[in-house]
Amino acid sequence: MDSITILQPDDWHAHLRDGESLKRTVPDLARQFNRVICMPNLVPPVKTVSEAQAYRERIMAHVPEGVNFDPRMVLYFTDHTVPDEVAKIKASNEVNAIKLYPAGATTNSDSGVSDIRKVYHVIEQLEEHQVPLLLHGEVTHNHVDIFDREKRFLDEVLTPLLRQFPNLKMVLEHITTADAANFVLEQGRNVAATITPQHLLFNRNDLLVGGVKPHFYCLPILKRQSHQTTLLEVATSGNPKFFLGTDSAPHAQSKKENACGCAGCYSAPYAIELYAQAFDQMGKIEKLEGFASHFGADFYGLARNTDTITLVRKPQTIAERMDYLPNDDIIPLHAGQTIDWSVVSGGS
Ligand code: NCD
Ligand code: ZN
Repeated sequence: MDSITILQPDDWHAHLRDGESLKRTVPDLARQFNRVICMPNLVPPVKTVSEAQAYRERIMAHVPEGVNFDPRMVLYFTDHTVPDEVAKIKASNEVNAIKLYPAGATTNSDSGVSDIRKVYHVIEQLEEHQVPLLLHGEVTHNHVDIFDREKRFLDEVLTPLLRQFPNLKMVLEHITTADAANFVLEQGRNVAATITPQHLLFNRNDLLVGGVKPHFYCLPILKRQSHQTTLLEVATSGNPKFFLGTDSAPHAQSKKENACGCAGCYSAPYAIELYAQAFDQMGKIEKLEGFASHFGADFYGLARNTDTITLVRKPQTIAERMDYLPNDDIIPLHAGQTIDWSVVSGGS
């Protein structure tokens, strides 16, 4: 198949940042996606429905003329989140979920939850109101190897959590291991997962062989190839538990190419084409639409989009760099490399 027309996709996990960054991130995402879950790990984090509404307005100010774009907001779970905030999320038309970062797990997670058992009284409300809990699924103990942190989270945090709250609606974000994929497969329809383009297209050799490649450094970190293979299998299987979440996470070039480089890959400008590349490599391009445009909306209980976009097999070269901050560019994921697919219509 050399051309595919699909319902407009949505991105169920992206970092747009704030202020100056929005000039770059909003048009890049709006080019292809209609709904985007806007992650709340700003400094300071987005903790209440009213803060989320204000952030949404700042985002909307950057949507290009004539483009439909519908940011979906998420609150940042802290040790101090009050149970009453859950009913406010449920009543809001703009906020769809709450994101739990274990404190210290990733970029801007210092205000995250220090011990999940301390917030079980809030999680009880999430289960009651069927508000999705989005999870960064890694333990953070210093002694746990970075490559084992997702698996340990499944065993030590998620299994007891689901025993306590069997009907909790939950998305395990940006899964990176066969363990996580299998865990999700074993649960009921209330448990789903997002998968990023980098975890489908790359593995830790891309990050580490021949020199450290900071633009492949994200969290959870890229794993070995056998995990990548399982992620490709489940993403392209047509199982609605797995859907698109880029985890596009912009950091300026100087913050990535640094002795202590930030975690995050900037995939937004070419995201749907990168996913098309991964699905096509598996001979499963016809499965892209479910993953990119149906399953996430269905899980969140939102209507599917009605517009379409068309992708064709037409090579394009990813930019080496893009404008970002006044004196600091951004290097997109897979910069300077040629991919096989291009968006030709729809999107904007
Ligand atoms: C994200 C960021 O930069 O905000 N970084 C990343 O490596 N994915 C945070 C996150 O989602 O972990
Ligand atoms: Zn993220």
